[in-house]
Amino acid sequence: MGIYANYAATSPALSAPVVKELSGYVGGTHLNAGRNFEGLEAGAIALRARRAMARLFDVPDPLRVIFTSGATQSLNMLIHGLIQEGCHVLATGVEHNAVARPLHQLHKNGVIELDWLSCGPDGSLDAGIVRAAIKKNTRLLVMTHASNVLGTVLPAADCFRIAREYGVFTVLDAAQTGGIVPLTMEDCCDALVFAGHKGLGGLAGSGGFVLGKALAEASGGIRPWVSGGTGSASDSLDMPGFLPDRFEPGTQNTIGILSLAASVEEVLRMGVENISERERGCTARFLSGLGEIKKVRPCGTCDPARCVPVVSVVVQGRDSGEASRLLFERHGVITRSGLHCSPLAHQTAGTFPDGTVRFSFGRGTTEEEVDAMLEALSSL
Ligand SMILES: Cc1ncc(COP(=O)(O)O)c(C=O)c1O
Repeated sequence: MGIYANYAATSPALSAPVVKELSGYVGGTHLNAGRNFEGLEAGAIALRARRAMARLFDVPDPLRVIFTSGATQSLNMLIHGLIQEGCHVLATGVEHNAVARPLHQLHKNGVIELDWLSCGPDGSLDAGIVRAAIKKNTRLLVMTHASNVLGTVLPAADCFRIAREYGVFTVLDAAQTGGIVPLTMEDCCDALVFAGHKGLGGLAGSGGFVLGKALAEASGGIRPWVSGGTGSASDSLDMPGFLPDRFEPGTQNTIGILSLAASVEEVLRMGVENISERERGCTARFLSGLGEIKKVRPCGTCDPARCVPVVSVVVQGRDSGEASRLLFERHGVITRSGLHCSPLAHQTAGTFPDGTVRFSFGRGTTEEEVDAMLEALSSL
């Protein structure tokens, strides 16, 4: 395939144990959870995955784990389920479009008031500005845990602590940190969103969210934004009040959920701390090598202790798309160029509209590969 440096977009290959489990499933029968007795197996797969996710994020009740098609659907469900007409919403200046677009649309349609918390050019955020930004009608603070462009990890727990003093709901987009940065959900936020196909190592089209204790209550303040059949409480036209059914209408992506069960169990066996340390090593090696290369400017904090394994660079005199293409054509290095679905982060970093070439590392990245990436960059 080449030298893969695009883990922030997606993990390119499933691990061998995950492939083995999925092959067994594909060759068997596929029945729908909750719709017939035989479908019990799908329900058991989902419960196994819920348990693994609950352990990963240290949540006491696996039923609070909701599966969706990914972080984008989850964020839309949470945003639309939590806002009220005329309320004020806060998000940061480095959000992915999965957050920025639904909020912008609601603001444009006059449904919500919206403010972006301003970040430094390296993507850092001073938690103190949250207090000043909160208004009487502020209902929701939704923020990414780490920028998918700059890699910078935001002080989410501090921001949320302040927001919760004012009764503001808090939603964490952990698409870039799940399985990469150790995370305890309880006491941090009201809802946490995960993407299955990045650091968690599952299939594309998997993901979901976890509800905190308050939102898990039927009266907790969040409405189901997607509704439909659940195979439960079918005598009512209302969605069931209990979890996970309240937020899981329709037929589930059982193979995606199975991929998550197997891959997250693997993450738990390896230990998020160990994964994090190893990937930090790759980032440190890459950043230190970049220091030797003229005409290549790294963006972000450039501090491996304060970022996920994502480093965006500007190659002087080259368009980001051209640089990325040459890296692939001449050296087989697979990066991602442009705006990375996050124009806000590029405006914050001063790299809008040209964008950057993004290198991102994962569990499969080796030191030799990092050196080859640096070599390829210097030859540009
Ligand atoms: C920070 C962030 N949020 C949300 C998403 C969307 O994730 P998904 O592909 O699961 O919808 C991404 C994907 O790149 C992301 O980086």
